[in-house]
Amino acid sequence: LGNGLGNTPPMGWNSWNHFQCDINEEMVRETADAMVSKGLAALGYEYINLDDCWAELNRDSQGNMVPSGSKFPSGIKALADYVHSKGLKFGIYSDAGSQTCSKSMPGSLGHEDQDAKTFASWGIDFLKYDNCENNDISPKERYPKMSEALANSGRTIFFSMCEWGSEDPALWAKSVGNSWRTTGDIQDNWDSMTSLADQNDKWASYAGPGGWNDPDMLEVGNGGMTTEEYRSHFSIWALAKAPLLIGCDIRGMDDTTYGLLTNNKLGVQGRKVKGDAGLEVWAGPLSDNRVAVVLWNRSSSKATVTASWSDIGLEQGKVVDARDLWEHSTKSASGQISAEIDSHACKMYVLTPK
Ligand code: GLA
Repeated sequence: LGNGLGNTPPMGWNSWNHFQCDINEEMVRETADAMVSKGLAALGYEYINLDDCWAELNRDSQGNMVPSGSKFPSGIKALADYVHSKGLKFGIYSDAGSQTCSKSMPGSLGHEDQDAKTFASWGIDFLKYDNCENNDISPKERYPKMSEALANSGRTIFFSMCEWGSEDPALWAKSVGNSWRTTGDIQDNWDSMTSLADQNDKWASYAGPGGWNDPDMLEVGNGGMTTEEYRSHFSIWALAKAPLLIGCDIRGMDDTTYGLLTNNKLGVQGRKVKGDAGLEVWAGPLSDNRVAVVLWNRSSSKATVTASWSDIGLEQGKVVDARDLWEHSTKSASGQISAEIDSHACKMYVLTPK
């Protein structure tokens, strides 16, 4: 979408994966505090995004959405002001239907202009726009309406389309949204995460500055996967230029989670280039002829995974410095790069031709 936002995939935090509807203004303020005090903001995590369940079920007599009086007694504008005072951006959620997926608040279908103006008046920077209760109207009608309403709202707002990939948005949403979900919802387990990675992968060529494929938010830190599985999750999301929206409670995260979330050295459009019996190579180009590569062992036992230069677009004779992004060590390689990798673990390298 040509609104000047999303030149790189968005990075931040969203309430849904960890808190679902159990949200309130104090928790959000503490999350904004943690984002800054723990150094995540300095690494580029800038959005604090509310998901479903922030509003009362009924609109007011003028038809405006009303923040939940018990969860957000100070109102959304005050919370946005607080988040802005920390140098961060604030996002909110609505739905291209009559009600949101939790059914606890109204959707914006038929109220696009009014709601976009409300969000703008509160200082909202990011709108996630969901797809429940949509009366079977095509997303190709419903999403452009809100995109236009945001454009006319008087504020520049990142438009995150959440129509679950139902009508292949990669094919038509580039002029509508800044990102579009390519999948259903992530769950905090290996099967869900790997399946979303694969579903998202086929749209790789459609992503770029201003419009990104979104295989859903991060589960890192929520406890359902092993550290190596979370490392794979984070590596592949980074390589696929997915939005990096943290979905755990960052106020109390442990050192392992912190280490995973803070190793975001990449912004590269990569894809799966080889996959033999669960031994996969995902790779993509970087600036200055560098190549990012993930060797990923999705099989159930320890194995050697190899990327030959021909798999990843390097000339056969090239000698490279291979920087291991997780071990922070560098070695020389030529012709191929190979490593013995535990089940469900990965290695991630940036290869710099000498
Ligand atoms: C849908 C979305 C999720 C989340 C929930 C909230 O399932 O895909 O990401 O926003 O709704 O109810």
